[in-house]
Amino acid sequence: MFNQLELINERPAVFAHMTVADLWTDPHVSEQMLRFHLDGTVAVSSGTTEWIEAATTWMAREFRLGGNSRVLDLGCGPGLYAIRLARTGARVTGVDFSARSIAYAREAAQKAGLPIDYVHHDYLAYEPAGRFDLVTMIMRDYCAMEPSQRLALLRTIGSALASGGAFVFDVDSTVAFANMAEEVSYSHSPRGGFWSAEAFFEFHNRFVYPDERVVLDKFVVVEANRTRTLFNWIQCFDPTMLAAELGEAGLRIDATLGNVTGAPFDPASPEFAVVARR
Ligand SMILES: C[S@@+](CC[C@H](N)C(=O)[O-])C[C@H]1O[C@@H](n2cnc3c(N)ncnc32)[C@H](O)[C@@H]1O
Repeated sequence: MFNQLELINERPAVFAHMTVADLWTDPHVSEQMLRFHLDGTVAVSSGTTEWIEAATTWMAREFRLGGNSRVLDLGCGPGLYAIRLARTGARVTGVDFSARSIAYAREAAQKAGLPIDYVHHDYLAYEPAGRFDLVTMIMRDYCAMEPSQRLALLRTIGSALASGGAFVFDVDSTVAFANMAEEVSYSHSPRGGFWSAEAFFEFHNRFVYPDERVVLDKFVVVEANRTRTLFNWIQCFDPTMLAAELGEAGLRIDATLGNVTGAPFDPASPEFAVVARR
């Protein structure tokens, strides 16, 4: 028991284990995530409905989306942004590895009569067809990848951008990092809950890595017949750090914003967004 608890509470090396897919593609967890996405009053998996309206209105105007535009939404989830961007007349492609979200998105597009191309795929292994005027990655997904994944994805995006095209994405800031403290908690869900429909115990450790400005939420979820360890990494950035890694991939920051609704940059905010170009 003592040895098991030591393992549960062990601090891994930064980005040592990547389990993003386990969070989004597990049949039970993805159902909980979809519920959060579709609850327009909370900003858990997606922004609130009001936020999504503001973000897509800003994008449509800022990037002059219309009949000749092509948009690629990486990690599109159930397509809450993609469907609104498609209403501008733009041809939209959404990529996500959650089968549940893609199924929802396809059905919604069909009901709306919008020809959105939803691709059920890992965006880290995706080869975009053609060139895009706007590439988006929304809800700070960028921060969940490890450095080599981020660099490879940026290179893919760089070569998928049409001339004058933009990549818009948001990140957790170093202000968010400064507010994070290490913590440990334990809970018991005898009737099931977020992680499983069956009874489970959850051990949560938050680790912070000051040199790298990385936060890890590590969850060990113990059920009667299975134990899962999930590693949710968050790389926090300031605009200088982000500019350096975009530069490695041949991209530059064209505008630094407060968020994806186009709000002005706020150095005290836990997040910010950028418009990057080749
Ligand atoms: C925080 S949610 C944001 C969803 C959407 N952008 C929104 O704001 O409504 C992150 C999404 O990215 C997807 N995702 C994460 N990593 C992915 C990967 N490597 N390939 C494809 N989809 C991924 C998840 O399935 C999830 O739908």
